[in-house]
Order: sequence, then C-alpha cells, then structure tokens
Amino acid sequence: MSLKINHAEPLLTDQVVLIVGAGAGIGRAAAFTAAREGALLSVADINMENAKSTALQITQAGGKAIAIKVDIASPDEVDAMVADTVAHYGRLDHALNNAGVTQWQCGAEGMKVGEASIEAFDRVVGVNFRGTWLSMRAELAQMVEQGGGTIVNTSSVTAMVGRNGSGIYAATKHAIVGLSRSAAIEYAQANIRVNSLCPGFTNTELVKSSIARRGDALLESVPMRRLAEPEEIAEMAVWLMSDRARYVTGTEMVVDGGFMAG
Ligand SMILES: NC(=O)c1ccc[n+]([C@@H]2O[C@H](COP(=O)([O-])OP(=O)(O)OC[C@H]3O[C@@H](n4cnc5c(N)ncnc54)[C@H](O)[C@@H]3O)[C@@H](O)[C@H]2O)c1
Repeated sequence: MSLKINHAEPLLTDQVVLIVGAGAGIGRAAAFTAAREGALLSVADINMENAKSTALQITQAGGKAIAIKVDIASPDEVDAMVADTVAHYGRLDHALNNAGVTQWQCGAEGMKVGEASIEAFDRVVGVNFRGTWLSMRAELAQMVEQGGGTIVNTSSVTAMVGRNGSGIYAATKHAIVGLSRSAAIEYAQANIRVNSLCPGFTNTELVKSSIARRGDALLESVPMRRLAEPEEIAEMAVWLMSDRARYVTGTEMVVDGGFMAG
C-alpha cells in the first residue's frame, strides 16, 4: 500500500443516493450528510411536505435533490420511486431504506405480542418489513442492470434483543437483518453490497414522543447516558454506502452509545 496524504475528499461525489423516509429524523440527517459528501439526492417520504423541505434545504445549500412521495406499503408507489429517481439521474448508486413505524403509531402502543390487533400487525409489518423488501426489490433490479450499487437498511438494536411492549416492531427489525444478510450473499457477485444499520435510541420525534408519553428511563440503559443525534447515525449510513466500506457486506452496524455492550 502506498501512502498519499490528501485532505477530506468527499465520500459520494456525484453518486446518486435514494433515501426513503427522508422527511424527518435519521433519514433527513442522512440526506444532509450524503449531500455534504457530494451526492445527488432523491428524497422520498410518505409526507411530501417534509420531503420537499428536506430537498429544498439541500438545494438552497448548493446541493442537488428531488423530492418523491411514496408509501412504501404500496408496490406501485415503490416501483415508481425508483423509476423516477433513475429517470431524473440516469442511475441509482445507493439506497437507504429507512422509513419505519412504531407500534404506537399503528394503534398497538405498549401491547404484548398476544394483544395487538391484526390491523396493527399488518401495518407495522407492511411498512417496516414488507416495505423494506419492496424497496429492495425495485432497487436491486436497477442495480443489477447497471452493474452494482449499495443498499443500507435501517434496522435497530431491537434486531438483537426483544422489547417489552414492542414485540412486533422488534420482529420486523430482526426480519430486516435476515433479509439484508441473505441479499448480501445473493448479490455479492453482482457487485451489490447490502448492510443493516442498527441505531440505538436516537433523538427524533419517534423517540422523543415515546419518552414524553411513557416517562421511560431509557437513558439509564445507555452507558453514554444520552440519545444519539440523527447525524451520528447518518455518518454510519453514508460510510456504508461509500467505497471506504467496499469489503463490508451482510453485516449489522450498531451505533448505540454502548447500549448493546451491557
Ligand atoms: N429513533 C430511534 O431511536 C430509532 C432507533 C432504532 C431504529 N430506528 C429506525 O430508524 C428509522 C427512522 O426513524 P426516525 O427515528 O428517524 O423516525 P421519524 O419518525 O423521525 O422518521 C421516519 C420517516 O419515515 C417516514 N415514513 C413513515 N412511514 C412511511 C411510509 N409508509 N412510506 C414512506 N415513508 C414513511 C415518516 O414520514 C418519517 O419522515 C426507522 O426505521 C426506525 O424504526 C429509530
């Protein structure tokens, strides 16, 4: 290996990045981080106003971004999301499948596995697991055709442990890991890397409202005694996309302030 010192080259110059669930939280932070690293953004969310706001902030800062409305529970909308990205930019280099819903957003707040309704189960699974699979299906088809790419799927530390009152959510996050590992094996020869991103408790609306509602002692279970900032999770997502991670596939990257070490 020869050593050449150059300072802070952008990680994703002119690479096309699709971020699903980029209207808020971790997804928005990932869109900003990827834009800072030179990427061309496709910003997708079920909340079009928020997607537009993310895209606008990127373009106002001198970056490139388009906004797309998608409900990832809908196969047609997911296929259109990828098709629109490719129609605009000509290719799709990286995707972060990050949209997700909690049990409380689907009417099963704090419910044990045996208590949740079929409707709540179907929505949590339909968005988190089926929606991630639908997204991957459309993205993989494009990446195979163009000769490569990377996919990062937002899972959670709840992919590795059970969660009291959130078992269906936890199961979808376990499922995302299984899907990601399997796709990593299946598509390694197609030059496509697939990894799971496993955030710990992160300072987004999703967690803030949970703390506010339940008065949860969440922070006591985190050795660092603070939430992650969305930007701290976004850094890992962007690194996983980048060529710096070119030998990393089929794994889970945990960013959790030491939560899983306990
Ligand atoms: N915040 C945490 O502590 C934490 C921890 C571990 C994992 N996660 C995961 O990280 C991801 C992002 O979470 P966040 O905390 O940023 O949440 P968030 O609620 O702030 O952002 C989620 C985004 O996804 C969008 N979305 C929801 N359903 C959608 C759908 N059907 N189609 C398209 N977009 C949809 C929302 O509109 C929102 O903009 C989720 O998958 C979540 O499960 C979060």
